[in-house]
Amino acid sequence: MATHKLLLLPGDGIGPEVMREVEKIVGWFRKRGLGFETETDLVGGSAYDAHGAAISDAAMSRAQEADAVLFGAVGGPKWDSVPYAVRPEAGLLRLRKDLGLFANLRPAICYPALADASSLKREVVEGLDIMIVRELTGGVYFGEPKEIVTLEDGSQRAVDTQLYHTHEVERIARVAFDLARKRRNKVSSAEKMNVMKTGVFWRQVVTRIHKAEFSDVELEHVLADNCAMQLVRWPKQFDVIVTDNLFGDILSDIAAMLTGSLGMLPSASLGAEDPVTGQRKALYEPVHGSAPDIAGKGLANPIAMIGSFGMALRYSFGLLDEADRLDRAIANVLASGTRTKDIAAPGANAVGTQDVGDAIVKELEAQS
Ligand code: IPM
Ligand code: MN
Repeated sequence: MATHKLLLLPGDGIGPEVMREVEKIVGWFRKRGLGFETETDLVGGSAYDAHGAAISDAAMSRAQEADAVLFGAVGGPKWDSVPYAVRPEAGLLRLRKDLGLFANLRPAICYPALADASSLKREVVEGLDIMIVRELTGGVYFGEPKEIVTLEDGSQRAVDTQLYHTHEVERIARVAFDLARKRRNKVSSAEKMNVMKTGVFWRQVVTRIHKAEFSDVELEHVLADNCAMQLVRWPKQFDVIVTDNLFGDILSDIAAMLTGSLGMLPSASLGAEDPVTGQRKALYEPVHGSAPDIAGKGLANPIAMIGSFGMALRYSFGLLDEADRLDRAIANVLASGTRTKDIAAPGANAVGTQDVGDAIVKELEAQS
C-alpha cells in the first residue's frame, strides 16, 4: 500500500479548528485502507511564539520531505507589531518560495445549494465553475528592492518591485493552458499592459506560448481591473484565468465571494514536475485567512480547508474517485442545509465547525 506523507500546519486563528475537521476526513480515508501518515508542526504566529520565527528550519525540512503540506491560516492582531521579517505571513511566503510552488490553483465553484448565499443574484452565480491560476513565487511579492528608505531631508520612500522573467511567465501559462484543455478550453490572461512593462511582457509571453504550443485553446487578454469588474458582472464568461501574484491574490478573493463565502474556496499550490519521478511539491490551503474575530468559537466554516484536502487527493495522490466522493459529500451536506453561519440560509439555524466535519464524514459513510 502506498503511503502518503502529509504535513499539517494548522497555523493561527481558525486554522487549528478547521484543520481538526480535515483530520477527521483523513482518519476516515485511513480507516478505509488509504495510507496517510500525518505529522503536525507550527507556522505563523504560533511558530513565532515558540521559536521566534514564522516557520522553523525543522518544519521547513519536514515540508520538503512531505508528499503534501496542508496549511490552515496565519496571522492575527497579537502579532501585528512583530518585526516584518518574522511576521506570520513570512512563514507562508517561505514555504511557497523554498518549495518552488509557483502555480496556485484557486477553483471557484458555486454549489447549487449556495447560490442564494452569494451577495450576487442567483442567475449570475448558479453553476459557476472557474479556475484562477495565480503565479505564486514571483512578481511584486518577492521582487527586489523591497524597502522603506529614509532620505536626506528626513522624508521616506517606499518601494516594491514587480519583476518577472520569461520562464516564470512561460511555466504558469502552460499550467493554465493545460488545465483549460481539461475544462472548457478557454484561458483569460489578466495584466495591466496599459500601465506596466511587466504587463506588456506578460501578454507577449502568454501569446507566444499560446501560438507555439496551445493554439487549440481559446485565449483572450483582459486588463486586470476590467477582469475584476467582469467577475462581478458576469463571471460565467470565464473558464481559466491566469494572472500574476498580486492580481491573482485580489481576483481570487473576488471569485471566492461569488461562491457564497470566503469560507468555501480551497487552493492548491504546486511546484514543477520532477522529470524522473513525476512528483511535484505541493501545499494545499484555504483562500480565507485566520479570521481572528471568530477564532476559538467553533463557528468557522471548514469547507475550504476540507476542499483543500480534496485537491490534495486529486493533484498529489491521483485519488480521483476519493476526491470526487469528498466533493459529493460536501455538496450533499450543503444541500441538506447543514451550514455554518457564513452560508446559512436566511432564518435557518447555523451549525458549528465540528458539525460540518461530522456531517461530511457521515455523508462519506453513506456513499460507501
Ligand atoms: C493568500 C493570502 C496571502 C497572500 C497572505 C496571507 C500572505 O492573502 O494566500 O491569498 O497574500 O498571498
Ligand atoms: Mn489573499
